[in-house]
Amino acid sequence: MNKGEKFLTRLEVLKKSSGFLRAKGVPSPKCDSEWLVSTSLKIKRMELYLHPEEIVEEQNIREIRSMIVRRGKREPLQHILESVNFAGFLIKSDERALVPRPETESLVEYILNRIPESFEGKILDLGTGSGAILLALCSSLPSSFGIGTDKCNEALALAEENVRLLNLQERVVLRNLDWHQDKILDDDISLIVSNPPYLDEEEWESAQPEVKSFDPKPALVAEDGGFYDLRKIIACASETLATEGLLALEFGICHADQIETALRPKFKDIEILKDLSRHRRFAIAKKT
Ligand SMILES: C[S@@+](CC[C@H](N)C(=O)[O-])C[C@H]1O[C@@H](n2cnc3c(N)ncnc32)[C@H](O)[C@@H]1O
Repeated sequence: MNKGEKFLTRLEVLKKSSGFLRAKGVPSPKCDSEWLVSTSLKIKRMELYLHPEEIVEEQNIREIRSMIVRRGKREPLQHILESVNFAGFLIKSDERALVPRPETESLVEYILNRIPESFEGKILDLGTGSGAILLALCSSLPSSFGIGTDKCNEALALAEENVRLLNLQERVVLRNLDWHQDKILDDDISLIVSNPPYLDEEEWESAQPEVKSFDPKPALVAEDGGFYDLRKIIACASETLATEGLLALEFGICHADQIETALRPKFKDIEILKDLSRHRRFAIAKKT
């Protein structure tokens, strides 16, 4: 898609965009091109193929070119689109917080399968980032109350925008809290959820450019083989959760055995659950 090429059809724009992204090593060039072109044209992805011969306006060509160049530099698609669909809810996503991951949607699903829709308890999200997990839970549990915490003020500002986007101001509060330094003062918490940093340095080094160049490293990497924050969160949860309250965690690919050992003294009914690739990645347990 060179400058000055005016009369391109939707299909031609798609082909040129996919070819450019493929050459740059972007993992899903066709799918990403469809998202970016359809977003610029303000149509559904499917419509691209319903009217493939339609001419794309010059101003759209310019916008698409700029978005495709950004994606070619491996900026995450979600940053360029400025939004992500997480567990059925459209939220804002940008450089202020980690892009919510599809695997984390499984954690939300596992939690919702264990809680009735009439749940009226307090949910505490440790390391809320964009707010994705907490906001999906509170949107699905209309009588719940949510507390989202993070040590990063930029992430909290993004989460605040998402609270307003999903119209949850009445039921969700956000606050700055560092679980290594601050005491959790809330009581009567029925559910603690956390997707904390859990990658080790080696995993970080081998991550895709989208992650290494655009996700905040402190949101992903933890000391002690990735277990440092998980251990602290289990300790905080054992002090804060109400008896019979639930702790739900996402963790790294090698952590399942360590998690079970750390949970056993203060938790019962420990379930280790798998992600879509059949790896043990989540735990749900009940406070004794
Ligand atoms: C892996 S991200 C998860 C974000 C979001 N919950 C999600 O699933 O998309 C971890 C989050 O924990 C926060 N965090 C890291 N260390 C923390 C600490 N010591 N206290 C509070 N938050 C922390 C980071 O700022 C980041 O937003």
